[in-house]
Amino acid sequence: MVIYVCDDYGKMSEVAANQFAAHLILKPNSVVGLATGSTPEGMYSELIKKYKKGEISFENAVSFNLDEYVDLPKENENSYYTFMHEKLFNHIDIKAENINIPDGNAKDFEKYVEEYEAKIESAGGIDLQILGIGQNAHIGFNEPDKVFLKKTSVVDLTQSTIDANSRFFDSIDEVPKKAISMGTGSIFKAKNILLLASGKSKAEAINNMINGEIDPQVPASILQLHSNVVVVIDKEAAELLDESTYIRI
Ligand code: GLP
Repeated sequence: MVIYVCDDYGKMSEVAANQFAAHLILKPNSVVGLATGSTPEGMYSELIKKYKKGEISFENAVSFNLDEYVDLPKENENSYYTFMHEKLFNHIDIKAENINIPDGNAKDFEKYVEEYEAKIESAGGIDLQILGIGQNAHIGFNEPDKVFLKKTSVVDLTQSTIDANSRFFDSIDEVPKKAISMGTGSIFKAKNILLLASGKSKAEAINNMINGEIDPQVPASILQLHSNVVVVIDKEAAELLDESTYIRI
């Protein structure tokens, strides 16, 4: 695991976008795994700038999103479908047919999750997976549990995640309680992983992910076993880490 610590959110977003762009330039037909949440928003803005300057193109890229709320219409302002289109897809040259976002309104979830997993496989697997992290160290919507979730599944959200997500909704009752999420196993199969975190509220999750036991109660801790993980965080998210373990940029 290579850990870069940046001064602030802006620098974190720039460094992450540079990493992302490097992958895309080296392999224009990259299969990218994308994340939602406020953390990667800045990186997506930087990628849009790079695209507009002609530095990168998504024309041949294929994307798979990590997760989506269950039973929230995709047109809802809080769906991850809407988020991804507003924050990235509407501003770049990715082909609509190459965008994959889990369908939170699928008719037969059992069948659908198998198909999503199979589609990732048939695209050749994920080259670069972008991740944020929840305050309880969840990745995607892989919540703390007794076992690591292997495959794309429908999951129950924990109260702490529902509370954290309530900032986007008018009332807590409107926050979805279930989501469809790529499993920790599906995420782990990615060839490269780029995890971002910003702010003090993520410091404990980041420390547990890097220095704690590998434990499904800390879903992100599985990344200790992955051979290609780059962590880009700001100094507040890094405040519990030993300075000797990271690169300050
Ligand atoms: C949600 C998403 C995660 C994301 C997390 C943190 O739970 N499913 O993919 O990492 O939120 O979000 P934020 O970046 O807004 O803190």
